[in-house]
Order: sequence, then C-alpha cells, then structure tokens
Amino acid sequence: HGSLTGIAGLQPHEIVFLLDEAEQWVDWNRRHAKSQHPLDGLTQINAFFENSTRTLLSFEIAGKRLGADVVNMHAAQSSVKKGETLIDTAMTLNAMRADVIVIRHASSGAVQLIADKVDCPVLNAGDGAHEHPTQALLDALTIRRRRGGVAGQRVVICGDLLHSRVARSNILALTALAAEVRVCAPTTLMPPAIERMGVTPFTDFDAAIEACDVVMMLRLQNERMAGAYIPSTREYHLRYGLTLERLARARPDALVMHPGPMNRGVEIASNVADHPDHSAITEQVEMGVAVRMACLDVLTRRARGVEGWA
Ligand code: CP
Repeated sequence: HGSLTGIAGLQPHEIVFLLDEAEQWVDWNRRHAKSQHPLDGLTQINAFFENSTRTLLSFEIAGKRLGADVVNMHAAQSSVKKGETLIDTAMTLNAMRADVIVIRHASSGAVQLIADKVDCPVLNAGDGAHEHPTQALLDALTIRRRRGGVAGQRVVICGDLLHSRVARSNILALTALAAEVRVCAPTTLMPPAIERMGVTPFTDFDAAIEACDVVMMLRLQNERMAGAYIPSTREYHLRYGLTLERLARARPDALVMHPGPMNRGVEIASNVADHPDHSAITEQVEMGVAVRMACLDVLTRRARGVEGWA
C-alpha cells in the first residue's frame, strides 16, 4: 500500500499529478456536485494526537464528500491517556480494518512508524517538526492558481523555521517545482545548514521580502520551544512581522499566505491578513479540502482496483 508520509520521496511529476487531481475537486466542491462517491463503503480513521482545526476538519469534510465513513479519534479522549503506546493504538485501528488512516502526532517520524505497521495507506497530517505534506500541496496549488505557475516564483517563508513542519514540506515542494525560495528567521529559529535544501537564508526580513511574488508567514511555535529562546511578541513583530509597509517592498501584486493558526499582531498585521487583494489565506483553506480529497482518492485507488497513482 502507498502512504503519503512526506513530500520527501515524491518526484516533481508526482507532486504535479496530485495538484492536477486536486484541481478537479476544487470545481466539484464549488458546484456542490453530489454524484461521485469513490470512497463509498471505505472507513477512514483520523487519529489526531495533537490539536488541529483546519487539517482535521478538512480531512473529515474531504472523506465525507468522497463517500467514506469517517471516524475521528482525539487522543485526549482516548486510551492514550491510560498509557497505551503509539504502536498498540495503531494496531488497534488496523484490527478494525480501516481503509485509510490519517495521523497527526507531536513526534517527528511517528507517522512513518505507523505506516510501516498497518495494512492500509497512511496520510501524514503533520508529525512534529518533520513534515506536513498536504499543507505543502495546498500551498503549491494556491500559488499555481493565483500566480499561473510555481516555477520561477520568488517565495519568502518567514518565521519559526526551526520548529516548522510546514516550512520543511513547503521548501521540499516549492524547490521541486522550481520556485526560488528564500527563508527568513532570527538566528535562534533558523535550522543549521538550511541552504543545503536549496534555499537562500536571511535574518533581515526587509531584505528577504524584496521583490517577492509570494510572502508566506509562519507563527512562533511556542509549544515546541522548551528551553529555547522565545522572543517577546513586540520585539518579534517589529523585526519579523508582516505589515503593509513591509509588504510594499515585495512585488505590487504579491500573494500573502499563512497556514494558520495566525497570531494577529505578532507575525502578521490584521490589515495584511485580511487584505482583499493580497491575502490568499482563506483560499488556502479551500484548497486544503480539494488537496485532501485528491490524496484520499489517489491513495485508496490500489485497494479499490482503480489505476492512477503516478
Ligand atoms: N495549518 C494547519 O495545519 O492548521 P491546524 O493545526 O489547525 O490543522
């Protein structure tokens, strides 16, 4: 069975294939079409060991629109609280004969561990600071639709890169699709040797944002910063917050993106987040449902006897 545990390991043509597949679901969702239920009779389990709004709800909506029976497991209300291990939890879901399992977990590598143990496709909904592949796919789809393509786009990703699975998956996807990627963070939140990923690192946001087509902002992930230096929100906003003044340094039609959840007034000013021309933040959420429909459809094709995974 094929799982999606990360963007690493996907070929550029496979990324493009998933984006093309998602494109049809964007139209289908907008038309409120009800006639296709390719996952009819399949059981989808969303096992979330970490909090989520967008990813959990969009995987649930995506599965239901495709006709799957969708079951959500919230770790806080599960037997994980009684000491059950991750592997034992995974084997329990497997014994219930899930057809696809979607997992979010606070530990990097936890999703791969489960994918190696169960008999059905597993989708990574975010594992620690490792990867969040469907976020990168929905971001690439948003850029492709709004900018007419990804190749050659100058993208700056600014924020807590050290703890960000979104940044990692986005760097992998955007460089695979031949975007010019800049990353910007305070030195304390910049992963070592990040330039080896094919990106240009900056610590000065005013320099990094210069002539960018896309400005992607990330929040400070305080929940992953035990023992690390946490900047004050005021200090952080002054140096790394996206304001209208700073955005004026990017291209006049620059796209502003944020995976959410946002901390308004910290990494992004409200008038930028809500800007009617620049902000693509709600469109990202819309693309999230389409991308997750595409991933659920494509990953279950082999089990359904349908051809089509690249
Ligand atoms: N972007 C994202 O993963 O949001 P949630 O944590 O709300 O799912």
